[in-house]
Amino acid sequence: MSAMSTTIVDSSPGGTPAAASVAQTPAPADLIGRVAVVTGAAQGIGLAVAQRLRAAGAQVVGFDLAGADVTCDVGDSAAFEHCLQETAAQYGRLDILVNNAGLGTHTLPHELSDEEFTRVLRVNVGGCFFGARAAFAAMRGRGGSIVNISSIAGSTALGRGNFVYSISKAAIGQLTRELAVEWATAGIRVNAVAPCQVRTPGFAPLLQDQRLDAGHVGPRMLGGIPLGRLAEAEEIAAGVHFLASDAASFITGVVLPVDGGNLALNAGGTVGTLR
Ligand SMILES: NC(=O)c1ccc[n+]([C@@H]2O[C@H](COP(=O)([O-])OP(=O)(O)OC[C@H]3O[C@@H](n4cnc5c(N)ncnc54)[C@H](O)[C@@H]3O)[C@@H](O)[C@H]2O)c1
Repeated sequence: MSAMSTTIVDSSPGGTPAAASVAQTPAPADLIGRVAVVTGAAQGIGLAVAQRLRAAGAQVVGFDLAGADVTCDVGDSAAFEHCLQETAAQYGRLDILVNNAGLGTHTLPHELSDEEFTRVLRVNVGGCFFGARAAFAAMRGRGGSIVNISSIAGSTALGRGNFVYSISKAAIGQLTRELAVEWATAGIRVNAVAPCQVRTPGFAPLLQDQRLDAGHVGPRMLGGIPLGRLAEAEEIAAGVHFLASDAASFITGVVLPVDGGNLALNAGGTVGTLR
């Protein structure tokens, strides 16, 4: 990670609750025999999810534009469907799909082109839909779990050019609820995780954006996170693992914030100062 993001983590006003414990705690081996596909698995949250599900015993196939097991653009519905069908055929089943691949963008609404608007929605929302639709055939009747990666941006406005990104993440929440209702009787649970800011390669460039006051953006973000630090990718992966596993057997249609309390605080509250 960049030095700047390290500074942000260390500058927490409320101390830095240990993040390392998640990575160091062994994942429960509750996915033995399961086959999982994780999109956007080459780096960041997707890589951490793939590693976590593997550690839990699943056979995991990572999809990405490059650098993963399968090269696949999730915004290309035909290609994504083909890759998922091939994977399910090769392994004889598909139990878990994690729709993690996503594009961030920070173009202000009045400067946003049709092309960028369409591309973000196609990858972020379309990617979840195309994957879920293709997974349905493999999971129907025998059961399965789909976990989509939304964001706190899906339920609170962030400004700073997050316009189409936020719209896409809100849509993922509703896609999750609709599919959960539609597919419950087919034995398929559909849930989502909504992270706050996570220390990943995709997040780092935001801190270099010249339009933002670098001296303030970090403290402002941290001020909105009661636990007082950015998330680690492994912490998001732990939430995904839970929802994907039988430990969440009666949970469907939820968007689980893994956000250090960010959504609970919202804009009007004040983080306590007790130590
Ligand atoms: N990092 C954060 O602060 C944060 C916060 C909330 C939500 N999220 C969401 O979590 C997910 C992962 O974020 P990250 O920070 O790890 O991102 P990242 O940019 O570090 O990694 C994303 C991965 O997805 C891949 N990808 C992008 N477009 C793709 C496509 N069309 N087809 C296949 N793969 C594609 C990229 O190649 C990359 O490997 C995204 O959906 C993001 O919106 C991230």
